[in-house]
Amino acid sequence: MKVLLTGATGLLGGALVRLMVREGHEVRCLLRPESPNASRLDRLVEVAHGDAGDAGSLSEALRGMDAMLHTAGIEYAAQVTEALRSAGVERLVAVSSTSAHSSYPARSGPKLDAETVVRGSGLSWTVVRPAMIYGSELDKNLHRLLRFLDRSPVFPVFGSGENLWQPVYYEDLARGTLEALTRPEAVGETYDLPGAEPLTYAELVRTAAAALGRSPRLLRVPLEPVRRALRLAEAVRIPLPVASEQVLRLREDKAYPHEKACRELGYEPRPFEEGIVLEVARLRELGMVRS
Ligand SMILES: NC(=O)c1ccc[n+]([C@@H]2O[C@H](COP(=O)([O-])OP(=O)(O)OC[C@H]3O[C@@H](n4cnc5c(N)ncnc54)[C@H](OP(=O)(O)O)[C@@H]3O)[C@@H](O)[C@H]2O)c1
Repeated sequence: MKVLLTGATGLLGGALVRLMVREGHEVRCLLRPESPNASRLDRLVEVAHGDAGDAGSLSEALRGMDAMLHTAGIEYAAQVTEALRSAGVERLVAVSSTSAHSSYPARSGPKLDAETVVRGSGLSWTVVRPAMIYGSELDKNLHRLLRFLDRSPVFPVFGSGENLWQPVYYEDLARGTLEALTRPEAVGETYDLPGAEPLTYAELVRTAAAALGRSPRLLRVPLEPVRRALRLAEAVRIPLPVASEQVLRLREDKAYPHEKACRELGYEPRPFEEGIVLEVARLRELGMVRS
């Protein structure tokens, strides 16, 4: 299949490039001219310059393609669907996020609105929703946690630590996303793509620490005073690195059943304890952890 891929210099996009090239797909990557990450692209893939926010450049990049795999932000749904229609390309897989399930509207609203644009596009669409992604040298989520655990005998846990998480290993997510593209029965469907099982945040931290051979003391920090202080700062317009709603979201369970993806896409994500061992091995090889 000839596929235009957006976000190829990113975590998920990079894994998709490797997987698709290995499986014989022809991949054209949409690259922003100002991207500082062009060197990450495999020399074997074709590159088209453009921006996901610019339907004209997308439409140009779509010439001769069978499909588009859009990982560069569901917020560009309007431009992406407009470009597909004007290029006469029917098939779209759009990557959204499981944050579409959040009960906090500021978090879920933009994702749901963009998904609605995809569903109403008249195209042969599929929406996939990754949970928190981890793995690879581009990991922005768990590498920081592993490096902290590597250095500290104490780990602060905001709130009870009992809320659920279900992070997905990047290669498992890439496999699920590619299956969503290639299976005809996925057209018109939305799939949650989380990790194998939910685990509490405290379990997640302990499992990550065990992979490093460490057993830190978890120090529980009550959430409510932190949130109240942030609310107060917001009320008097003090600029903050985190919003009070983000703190509230720490209490929200992020667990997502994925039987539908297992059944219809053959989705088989690995357990967290396996994926995190691979990440610790990667960080050791890079000399980024000592344990
Ligand atoms: N990471 C997570 O935990 C997570 C969880 C749930 C959902 N998601 C969603 O999954 C998708 C992939 O996430 P990721 O972590 O792999 O992303 P990432 O590593 O941050 O990479 C983002 C990619 O999108 C490209 N991009 C951004 N804006 C663009 C634009 N206007 N035009 C063209 N390209 C643009 C970037 O290119 P440059 O090289 O130019 O920067 C980069 O290749 C995203 O839609 C994200 O919202 C991520």
